[in-house]
Amino acid sequence: MGKIKLALIGAGERGKNCYAPHVRRSGDLMEFVAVAEPNDDRRNEFAQQYGIPEENVFKSAEDFFEKPKMADAVMICTQDRQHFEQAKAAIEKGYTILMEKPISSDPRECLILEKMAQEKGVLIVVCHVLRYTRIFREIKKQLDSGIIGDVVSVVHTENIGYWHFAHSYVRGNWKSEETSAPMIVAKCCHDFDMLSYLLGSRCRTVTSFGDLKYFRKENAPKGATARCLDGCPHSFTCEYYAPKFYLGGGNGWPASCLGSDLSEEGRLRALREGPYGKCVFSGENDVCDHQVASLVFENGVTVSFTASAFTNNNERTIKIMGTKGEIETRTSESTVTVTRFGAGIRTGNVNTIKIPKSPYGHNGGDEGIMEAFAAAMAGIGKNDNLFSQSVHSHMIAFAVEESRKTGKIIDVAEYERKLRETII
Ligand SMILES: NC(=O)c1ccc[n+]([C@@H]2O[C@H](COP(=O)([O-])OP(=O)(O)OC[C@H]3O[C@@H](n4cnc5c(N)ncnc54)[C@H](O)[C@@H]3O)[C@@H](O)[C@H]2O)c1
Repeated sequence: MGKIKLALIGAGERGKNCYAPHVRRSGDLMEFVAVAEPNDDRRNEFAQQYGIPEENVFKSAEDFFEKPKMADAVMICTQDRQHFEQAKAAIEKGYTILMEKPISSDPRECLILEKMAQEKGVLIVVCHVLRYTRIFREIKKQLDSGIIGDVVSVVHTENIGYWHFAHSYVRGNWKSEETSAPMIVAKCCHDFDMLSYLLGSRCRTVTSFGDLKYFRKENAPKGATARCLDGCPHSFTCEYYAPKFYLGGGNGWPASCLGSDLSEEGRLRALREGPYGKCVFSGENDVCDHQVASLVFENGVTVSFTASAFTNNNERTIKIMGTKGEIETRTSESTVTVTRFGAGIRTGNVNTIKIPKSPYGHNGGDEGIMEAFAAAMAGIGKNDNLFSQSVHSHMIAFAVEESRKTGKIIDVAEYERKLRETII
């Protein structure tokens, strides 16, 4: 088999900076043959870095899809609300697809893509990178070994991190449901995917509460200015003072989101003119900053889930409780602790497994998804990251949001069935 030929749609943070370097590292396995990106700097830099011929360099996905099929697969790495139309065009052209989450911000569109892909026999892999992190692979291995018996309950916390939340969900691309998706869909479709993967079961019922508590206009401290650099009197005390986030550090994320000029002057200009220099209490955001959900899976496992902006670290903390023991992890510490209950009271065996940190993004998840995608395309091994499972993970997230908005307990299968009835 020759090299897998890829076209990148959206040469931004995920496409160009996170996934593309793994294509280069894959040697003879994969290569880029086309790119579609409206931003001149990013497009030209990418085309040059990957030696893409001029005739295959496009200013938009729309221009790219007008041309006859020129690659084996497309990588859709644009913003949330663009995924659906681009995936539809890709299916119609017969491209294999690696696509960023969310599949769509509209649950119906997820189901439409699933139907289209089934009818056309197109492989779609969603970038649920968590599955490929070393820590979650270890947890899956431990669970499948049966060491903690049958799983009964799980407590799972998505600690978003106050700084990460401010960057992405207050100032950044995911601040508004209208332009991206509800926070529980944008951020936590990963967690729901991970839960159904680890538990080997679909989700049956959900209920949820939450809202936007803190990042609101009325919580702005007295005299706060519209932008941090407008001489805000709270610059020394505010946890969210933008220069603390973006000046002086390296060129990696989140500074890389400021633009292509990362000189001191370029960064200051971005903070004076762009979204990342605005006060976090400007009131332009509307997505929840905290949300809880209770979930029951079809195998009877109950899950207590919390997503919150108000944490120091950006990490997941999970406790999985089984009939014979428990598994705990705190991803920032890179450890998995497996405790097997002993005879008598608290005499169990405790095994703390240190997971080596990966030098690659999402603790190896970004590298892992690229490897898994290439393997799925080459037909090597078993692809357990099926599109139908990703659609189900998204349905869980949408059902959780439906519960938060309506105050009702939602039967996930029934919610999905009703949506399916509305698509032809
Ligand atoms: N899997 C994960 O863990 C993970 C993590 C972060 C973000 N994401 C998702 O990845 C996606 C991309 O996020 P990002 O941070 O890279 O965003 P980004 O804004 O940095 O990149 C998107 C790129 O798409 C380009 N674009 C816009 N319109 C286009 C068009 N018509 N045709 C082609 N390209 C176009 C933009 O110019 C930009 O360069 C989002 O949907 C986000 O939710 C996933």
